[in-house]
Amino acid sequence: MKIKKVTKAVFPVAGMGTRFLPATKSIPKEIMTLVDRPLIQYAIDEARAAGITEFIFVTSRGKSALEDYFDVAPELEASLRKSGKTALLEVLKASNMDSGAIAYVRQNRPMGLGHAVWCARRLIGDESFAVLLPDDVIAAEKPCLQQMVEAYAETGGNMVATMEVPREKAGAYGVLDIADDMGAIVRAKGMVEKPKAEDAPSNLAVIGRYILSPKVLNDLNTMKQGVGGEIQLTDAIAQQIHEEDNVYGYRFQGQRYDCGSKAGFLQATVAFGLARPEFQAEFGAYLHELVAQQKAAQ
Ligand code: UTP
Repeated sequence: MKIKKVTKAVFPVAGMGTRFLPATKSIPKEIMTLVDRPLIQYAIDEARAAGITEFIFVTSRGKSALEDYFDVAPELEASLRKSGKTALLEVLKASNMDSGAIAYVRQNRPMGLGHAVWCARRLIGDESFAVLLPDDVIAAEKPCLQQMVEAYAETGGNMVATMEVPREKAGAYGVLDIADDMGAIVRAKGMVEKPKAEDAPSNLAVIGRYILSPKVLNDLNTMKQGVGGEIQLTDAIAQQIHEEDNVYGYRFQGQRYDCGSKAGFLQATVAFGLARPEFQAEFGAYLHELVAQQKAAQ
């Protein structure tokens, strides 16, 4: 079976980001920076590496800084060129998007991730598509979505990125009920959103990378509110398990940071800072010193 390449990706960025208030009162969460790049840039780079050419943003009020970020900045470019700052000019150009490559649709009210994806249905049409949640940042040798696209070329259907979590933490995620465990790929026979720890069908949690069949959009058409009163993407994917039996979990290689939470964001900041050669020595030494001071104070 020849499986069509995935070229469209949806970036749901219409959430309110309440965990980062007051910052998110005026800054979209996705513009917050790890070292010097906004979260959304990491997601876009990952999508590009996986062969995505059409980028669909589901936005809401107060997110115009995101739209501006991907625009060409002629005055800034001219000024950098004039002062011979060619390296910075290249950094800046890497954030530009080609005209027409990026499209924005609006979610009027934050009715949940499933609803946000449904808002993009006309732009997705009848093609399989990727979904990336920019607040999940994944450090990996081969970008996570690229790993998934390669695995999806074998399976087709629907694929969700998964990782093992301690069972007591499963309630914070969508969790897979596993039918077949084939190593990197598992076939799911169920999927539940935020189960109680004792009801979790496994410890395989779903994180914010998906490749979905357009049939999920049909299911979202009729989806009722689920956990938290929101239209849940998990419920629509679970429906595909019942209708088509073609939902796979993919155990990606890499380290995922939950940058939607403050603790995760801080961890990512430290990890991405340390990974940058220009900061390794100074920042590494500072962290050592800080830990030593903390130990001494205990
Ligand atoms: P979160 O659950 O992290 O919600 O959404 P949030 O609003 O961004 O943040 P908190 O919990 O209030 O701090 C996960 C992803 O789904 C998008 C968010 O923008 C984020 O990328 N989302 C969520 C929407 O686009 N629309 C929604 O109605 C809900």
